[in-house]
Amino acid sequence: MSVGSVLVIVPTYNEIENLELIAGRLHAAVPAANLLVVDDNSPDGTGRLADELAVAHDWVHVLHRTDKQGLGAAYVAGFGWAREHDYDVVVEMDADGSHAPEQLPRLLAALENADLVLGSRWVDGGEVVNWPRSRELLSRGGNLWTRLALGLPLKDATGGYRAYRRTVLDEVLSHDVASQGYCFQVDLAWQIWQGGHRVVEVPITFVERERGESKMSRAIVVEALWRVTMWGITSRRSRKRLPAQQPRQVS
Ligand code: GDD
Ligand code: MN
Repeated sequence: MSVGSVLVIVPTYNEIENLELIAGRLHAAVPAANLLVVDDNSPDGTGRLADELAVAHDWVHVLHRTDKQGLGAAYVAGFGWAREHDYDVVVEMDADGSHAPEQLPRLLAALENADLVLGSRWVDGGEVVNWPRSRELLSRGGNLWTRLALGLPLKDATGGYRAYRRTVLDEVLSHDVASQGYCFQVDLAWQIWQGGHRVVEVPITFVERERGESKMSRAIVVEALWRVTMWGITSRRSRKRLPAQQPRQVS
């Protein structure tokens, strides 16, 4: 693969019904990729299942954390592992099948001319399947607010299906990432865009999970709204964006 070695990080909390399926689909779609499961001590035994998969397959790895500390913290831990093990490309993917591994080759292809590729539900060609209207409004509203408050010219800055070049991760992780919940996604896209790096959106089809439950909560929404608004206010005081760069869309 021309983009180099690829690690796909899948954070899990109570995904026992989904994990084996997503691992199998990933390996079929991109056989060269390794998988890192970051489990927050799921009560349903997802962590034990991940260990079994790691014993059975040399491309599966597991990072166990002691308790549920949010998606952001799980990814920061996973990114640290990826850097220690020297991967060139790091991918974020949900465990529940919403992010089709079959679409990963398109994200990786786009990374050849980008530093961060976002799988995007809200660009032309992107879509969501089986999402309740309330979730769609939340996502569209959240992204609209992100564009207005931050001036971040992305259609889907909150999504969790993306591919990073390791070099931009090194840069963002050189200081602390405070975001705990799903606004972690906006946090990283915002920092990477501000750093003047190439951010590209690729359309994806997001399919709502059929098994298990979403971990989205009111606290996660409040954290996102609060942080995005605060970043917007601070950045208006000190415009720190490097030379302008237009986002591009790849289809
Ligand atoms: N380790 C760990 N710890 N994993 C977590 C935690 C946590 O605290 N919270 C969620 N996860 C895992 C889930 O197990 C799943 O694999 C993935 O993170 C996404 O969680 P979901 O609960 O399925 O998210 P969603 O479908 O409601 O939200 C989607 O849209 C968000 C907003 O656009 C996801 O794609 C998010 O990534 C996205 O930010
Ligand atoms: Mn989900």
